[in-house]
Amino acid sequence: MAFFLKRMDLSHLEQVMLIEEKLFSSPWNFPMFISEIENYDSFVLLNKENQILGYLCGRSVLDEFSITNIGIEQKSQRQGLGSILLEEIILKMKTLGIKDFFLEVRESNIAAIKLYQNFNFVRLGKRKKYYSSPIEDAILMGLITSK
Ligand SMILES: CC(C)(COP(=O)(O)OP(=O)(O)OC[C@H]1O[C@@H](n2cnc3c(N)ncnc32)[C@H](O)[C@@H]1OP(=O)(O)O)[C@@H](O)C(=O)NCCC(=O)NCCS
Repeated sequence: MAFFLKRMDLSHLEQVMLIEEKLFSSPWNFPMFISEIENYDSFVLLNKENQILGYLCGRSVLDEFSITNIGIEQKSQRQGLGSILLEEIILKMKTLGIKDFFLEVRESNIAAIKLYQNFNFVRLGKRKKYYSSPIEDAILMGLITSK
């Protein structure tokens, strides 16, 4: 099956919001995604029927890129799509001069932590009570190639 990466735009938001609301206990809302689209770097992963299977939002500053959101729609999880999406973004950002990648993840989110570890992200620290609904610490992870 072929997959395509596209910049997220307003036409994608209805589908993205449906996925987001199923994946997260405190999902991003519509204005948050609009702000990401207008100001930062957001991408969708589509199949050849133009259905959105996943998405990733991030922010670049100089040679650093912070991944702020990533999701694969529930029925398509555990089929390698999160890995495809993350790999595509890392390669794309590296061509734009990004050297270091950062993200926060809920301490209990084993699936996501394993995905990041597969890409050689390492634990850099912890942010106490970073998340709400439910309150939970975040693990700060990084993929550092600048040093
Ligand atoms: C995290 C997420 C994006 C992973 O996407 P995915 O398409 O399922 O990931 P992949 O199929 O590429 O799996 C990659 C690796 O992640 C790990 N993984 C994925 N799902 C897992 C699960 N349910 N349990 C344990 N490990 C899991 C495995 O190591 C897996 O490799 P393997 O299948 O060879 O063992 C997806 O589970 C998701 O959208 N979760 C909800 C939203 C979320 O938590 N986002 C992260 C916020 S920080």
